[in-house]
Amino acid sequence: MNDRVQEMRAAGREVYHLGFGESRFPVHPLVAKALQDNAQQRSYLPALGIPELRQTIATFYERHFNLPVAANQVVIGPGSKSLLYALLVALDGDIIMPTPAWSSYQDLATLSGRLLLEVPMDPGDDYRLDVNRLQGAMSEAAEQWRRPDLLLFSTPHNPTSTTLSLEETQKLTDFARDRELMILSDEIYGMVTYDSAGHVSPAHTYADGTIVFGGLSKHMSLGGWRFGVAILPPTAAGVALERALKAIAGCIWSCVTAPVQFAAQVAYGDNPQVAAYMQACTEMHAARTRYLYDALLEFGVSCPEPRAAFYLYPSFARWRKPLAARGVFTCQDLGHYLLENYEIAVLPGATFGDDPHALSLRLSTSFLDMETDEQAQSITTGFYDDPDADRFIHNQHPRLREVASRLADFVTELEEDFKP
Ligand SMILES: Cc1ncc(COP(=O)(O)O)c(C=O)c1O
Repeated sequence: MNDRVQEMRAAGREVYHLGFGESRFPVHPLVAKALQDNAQQRSYLPALGIPELRQTIATFYERHFNLPVAANQVVIGPGSKSLLYALLVALDGDIIMPTPAWSSYQDLATLSGRLLLEVPMDPGDDYRLDVNRLQGAMSEAAEQWRRPDLLLFSTPHNPTSTTLSLEETQKLTDFARDRELMILSDEIYGMVTYDSAGHVSPAHTYADGTIVFGGLSKHMSLGGWRFGVAILPPTAAGVALERALKAIAGCIWSCVTAPVQFAAQVAYGDNPQVAAYMQACTEMHAARTRYLYDALLEFGVSCPEPRAAFYLYPSFARWRKPLAARGVFTCQDLGHYLLENYEIAVLPGATFGDDPHALSLRLSTSFLDMETDEQAQSITTGFYDDPDADRFIHNQHPRLREVASRLADFVTELEEDFKP
């Protein structure tokens, strides 16, 4: 699809890209300054991170998520994805994973030689994590003499942007404890939660059996800096994992880039300006994502309500017939149709392991109207001047509003077929 987008752009056609999952707000000036000030730091640093940074991150998790974490539970790596891979290498066992799920999990499982048991969640229930479905899949797996040891998912969830309630988390962790499953909880969007209940981690109710993943890619828009975090369980197993990770990190990446570690010290530190910035970025993501969500609902498109991050996961199954009349049978066909006819680029649900016939798409709001760094800066400055969500969208988001209007036209086109 990206190739086709390039072709279309080269031919002078406008394309609205809702495919990228990259947060694009500017680097916070204090964090940028810390990076510059530490440009001379050129020595190898400890494989799992400098001790003061591990302590700062532990305190951050306590401050923001109310999770008691000790410094030796914190390990850092070049992105949470690398840490997840390193942990899959260190841990034993097969993986059980609800779908739809972030596409990289499948690749990481293959790369680390882990068997992956994918368990589809219920579209009628917004794909929420359903313990009964996991339980059913475990029983079926047991009949084939398989027993997954690792439960992998993201919360907040990519691709639906839903979050787990405390009650759901409790139910899930009771199940995991009962089945002796180690939870790999990808919480890279944890700080981008705008649900009033806040971010809930399985580590709140099952600290001994949960590994939490995080990093600076999303809430600080620093994906390219490659900075990830894993919080290990406060147990003997956690200590063994820390040792294993030290060996793996030592063999592969040696340490996280030295100046980035010092800049991360500021990003995770208790600075009121940085805290206000993280909050502002979350509010901007919320305004942009909720705007498009409200528009979709207005046109009658069904979509899980986003409570974090910047994704929407609508289904167009309601228009199966008119779509079939246009040669659109799968979510991939639908993605192509939208690109060719409405110049909107999205990711098909099948990318996330979903049934192609569910006709679901993932729309990311993170890129529109922030295509250049200048635009990203101007939007951020505008929001600081006037944080009213409606005016923020109206004054600063011509392209986002254009996408809403094109999606309305698309739905109107499909509805025409129902008319007598
Ligand atoms: C669910 C999920 N986890 C992890 C990542 C990447 O994190 P990192 O940049 O820390 O490797 C992404 C990025 O798209 C993501 O969507």
